[in-house]
Amino acid sequence: MYTQSFSVPDGDPAAAKSRVQPISASEAALQASFDQRIDADGRIEPQDWMPEAYRKTLVRQISQHAHSEIVGMLPEGNWISRAPSLKRKAILIAKVQDEGGHGLYLYSAAETLGVSRDQMLDALHTGKAKYSSIFNYPTLTWADVGVIGWLVDGAAIMNQIPLCRCSYGPYARAMVRVCKEESFHQRQGYEALLVMMQQGTVDQQAMVQDAVNRWWWKCLAMFGPPDADSPNSAQGMRWGIKRISNDDLRQKFVDATVPQAKVLGVTLPDPDLKWNESRGHYDYGAIDWDEFWATVNGNGPCNKERLSTRVKAWNEGAWVREAALAHQHKQQQRQHKEAA
Ligand SMILES: [Fe+2]
Ligand SMILES: [Fe+2]
Repeated sequence: MYTQSFSVPDGDPAAAKSRVQPISASEAALQASFDQRIDADGRIEPQDWMPEAYRKTLVRQISQHAHSEIVGMLPEGNWISRAPSLKRKAILIAKVQDEGGHGLYLYSAAETLGVSRDQMLDALHTGKAKYSSIFNYPTLTWADVGVIGWLVDGAAIMNQIPLCRCSYGPYARAMVRVCKEESFHQRQGYEALLVMMQQGTVDQQAMVQDAVNRWWWKCLAMFGPPDADSPNSAQGMRWGIKRISNDDLRQKFVDATVPQAKVLGVTLPDPDLKWNESRGHYDYGAIDWDEFWATVNGNGPCNKERLSTRVKAWNEGAWVREAALAHQHKQQQRQHKEAA
């Protein structure tokens, strides 16, 4: 999945503030050639010089994105053993595995910026690092799995397609494959809901509507705070990390989703949602930002459960990591012996 604009600072305000200014003539020249490449819409690669603030911003954004992918496996993983058919179970397993893979690409991309996977996971497990707050809500019924595919993965695609053109090469390349898989996630969710709405019982149709009611506003909040309250966005745009503003992405998502909801036969729970002829877009109602921030800051319904599940998985996987390292060590010793 998954982004929420990733403009939310992790728990280290001092680091967020640190901006390394060019101090020497040689550093000023490096900064000038970096700026030139950014202005020309070129790519920055791991071996290239980059300003410290650019590097830190990317580490924060890519690691938050990676954490969101692996925490995002949990709400849906919850339904693998209860999927209504073998076909739905196979699709859901494939999707949840994809999300794990997205996490791995993204941790690898962040590692090229000089941060280790252990450091990133430690920040997640100690609650210092943020991840997309959408995953701090529970999946109450099977319809939630369909709605997550349709709306949460749908919102993720809107956020992530512009990241394929991000100025940092490894992040941009990882996003190309991620977006292809997200497209499958969105379609499988929509198709599962379509079957329930067109062939299901009245109770199943009501279950879909209930899930849409619970997820709609949380998906709109996924795009992050309004542009007026996102002071870091301008710098992200300047660096070619962020290409489209939070509000513009949110509008694109609303405009794309309203016709899909009509085909599906569900109502989006917003009395203010209506086509605005003069703007050429749908207007929509006010988002509850207090609820968003409460969840981001650790007080959503599932924050503690998600974190403790991740920590437990990490601890229970310790023997696998130790065995893999012991195996690698043994192989290296064998190679040394053969070379001697
Ligand atoms: Fe996804
Ligand atoms: Fe994903």
